[in-house]
Amino acid sequence: MNRNIHEQLIVILDFGSQYTQLIARRIREAGVYCEIHHYSLTEADFHALNPKGVILSGSPESANLQDSPRVPDHVLNCGLPILGICYGMQTMAEQLGGKVEGSSHSEFGYARVEMLGACPLLHDLEHVIEADGRNYQDVWMSHGDRVTRLPEGFVLAASTPTAPIAAMMDENRRMFGVQFHPEVTHTKAGQQILNRFVHEICGCERLWTAANIIEDAIVTIRKQVGTDQVLLGLSGGVDSSVVAAMLHKAIGDQLTCMFVDNGLLRLREGDQVMKTFADNMGVKVIRANAEDKFLSRLAGVADPETKRKIIGNIFIEVFDAESTKLGQVKWLAQGTIYPDVIESAKAKHGTAHVIKSHHNVGGLPDNMQMGLVEPLRELFKDEVRRIGMELGLPYDMVYRHPFPGPGLGVRILGEVKKEYCDVLRLADAIFIEELHKADWYHKVSQAFVVFLPVKSVGVVGDARRYSWVLALRAVETIDFMTARWAHLPYELLETVSNRIINEIKDVSRVTYDISSKPPATIEWE
Ligand code: XMP
Repeated sequence: MNRNIHEQLIVILDFGSQYTQLIARRIREAGVYCEIHHYSLTEADFHALNPKGVILSGSPESANLQDSPRVPDHVLNCGLPILGICYGMQTMAEQLGGKVEGSSHSEFGYARVEMLGACPLLHDLEHVIEADGRNYQDVWMSHGDRVTRLPEGFVLAASTPTAPIAAMMDENRRMFGVQFHPEVTHTKAGQQILNRFVHEICGCERLWTAANIIEDAIVTIRKQVGTDQVLLGLSGGVDSSVVAAMLHKAIGDQLTCMFVDNGLLRLREGDQVMKTFADNMGVKVIRANAEDKFLSRLAGVADPETKRKIIGNIFIEVFDAESTKLGQVKWLAQGTIYPDVIESAKAKHGTAHVIKSHHNVGGLPDNMQMGLVEPLRELFKDEVRRIGMELGLPYDMVYRHPFPGPGLGVRILGEVKKEYCDVLRLADAIFIEELHKADWYHKVSQAFVVFLPVKSVGVVGDARRYSWVLALRAVETIDFMTARWAHLPYELLETVSNRIINEIKDVSRVTYDISSKPPATIEWE
């Protein structure tokens, strides 16, 4: 494969929809590389990208207002295929001479659209519902405004009672608009529609595959670092693990990984990281055992933010001290992924909706003066996982729940002590084991146990037990910004609770956290 996998690119112009990243993920699933850019992308930047087609995202804005965001004229006139989705269709219609109006019936949820005529994007799709001699599709709608007059040159391609112009096209100019959202899975033929657009209408091939991405990354990494040494902070999380595997494949012994064991990890986690990377894969990993350092500096500290700061600072001290021993290292590898890049670009445009208040422990000092190697910068999390599997990492590592940088430090409420960590590790391992056994682990997004520094009375056999209380936490979420507590079966909760109390003598009581986010957060601190 000597093709340039970035050569056939789709540009997604972002008008601020919550679904923009989803559009990009679906295009990648179609095997085509795409980038998200602010809708004001300049003509020079647009041409430098040399795209094969353009997708206009949805937006919370209203296309019939004067000062709403618009597609730049150079894009409308570029002659490339354009697909407008929701607001993208509306603003395209408005800008090309059609009309958009607010509707008294906003439509949110499933809708049945009637497919009209032979539209290259929409004809002969799978999942057609045939009724009264007509063709329908189940789609997902989410809009208030609607197009009420087609621009010149366009014909109607689909219709619903509330959105009579639910899809439109100008075949000559290869411009298409859909009022519904093909990127959400509720639109049954959504992926097929996007595949059609990128493959048949834009003429893109399937170059964006896990194997090709790896091959491309290897060439790029080798070119970037030459014969220099590269250092990576390996946490055992998905992103840094995939970076380690990728860099090892690209530059072998030029890579040194630093694994800082802070004593706040899950049961046998440190050993597992060493086994996977050092023993099985032959990666050079330095294990810095710093449990004592972390725990002694945390002694007597109960405030969550202070604990986070202490843990972050010691991490940097240890990392710094250990890496100095390696001599001159020019490059630092990081597991930055595409959503991080998009968020910082949004922050630059002042359009970021959410700014995370916490960062992974691993934020390194600016004075390290090393160049950055970020081989996952273009990838979404699901792509990172696919690549991890392709690189041979164990499934359990690649599909593991996220674990916060400060580890058990924020799952032990108040002061952190080794004896608490030990209790928590055992209980957490039991919970996770039972979730796996009951086939629930992958149905929840994150699950863990929290140590509550209160004692409660229990009775075990004939004896009174006065010991610690634990809370189980399991949540379902898409983006970790909002979350619902997982409705685990009572039997499963019962098994976990019984096992924890029977197997760990320092626990007298187990509770289940039924708070959703918001108003609660996922972690307790
Ligand atoms: P919250 O508790 O804010 O958690 O609802 C949302 C997600 O972020 C993780 N989290 C952290 N990750 N450092 C991290 O690297 C932190 O300090 C931190 N605090 C929370 C949490 O596990 C969840 O996935």
